[in-house]
Amino acid sequence: MLVWSDSFATKIEIVDTQHKKLFELLNRLPECVASGRPDPEMIDSILKELMAYADKHFVDEELLMAHHHLDPRHINVHRMEHKSFMYDVQNMWEHLSLEEDLTEVSEKLVRFVTSWLTYHILGIDQVMALQIFAIHHGETPEQAYELRHTIKYDSATTHLMLDSVLDLWHMSMDRCHRLETKLAALENP
Ligand SMILES: [Fe+2]
Repeated sequence: MLVWSDSFATKIEIVDTQHKKLFELLNRLPECVASGRPDPEMIDSILKELMAYADKHFVDEELLMAHHHLDPRHINVHRMEHKSFMYDVQNMWEHLSLEEDLTEVSEKLVRFVTSWLTYHILGIDQVMALQIFAIHHGETPEQAYELRHTIKYDSATTHLMLDSVLDLWHMSMDRCHRLETKLAALENP
């Protein structure tokens, strides 16, 4: 369950409203799994709604960055994170659902999306907001980028950020090991 707190706020209304909606859609998944036997069609439909909303939100954020003329170095990395999220979730759902039980698959998806949203919103989305406010107050996009591409966190937020990065790392190691095992089985049938 991903719970909204002030640490996630970018202070840009449309971005915060859409992030809250993403939390709400994500939190429907564990509710659906906890309600008894998970229904693949229901999970698929929640996931589709979540992905469609994420896609719309990413487009809105990218339009916002273009509208405020953010430095292309920021926009390129930010856009890449959005693309990799769409690819990873789709890929995980397609591959995992072929080989694992649905409860386990749903738990992995919830873990991945929770950690990814935490890492992304506390990270690059906060940096984006800082640069937008700085440009609004007279800095050039280059100055805003050079002076504001990192964030100073309090210790609670640092822990949240570290936990999410470690979780994403563990999950990607797990996926690598699975692929290695599959590859070895193909090479030595
Ligand atoms: Fe973003």
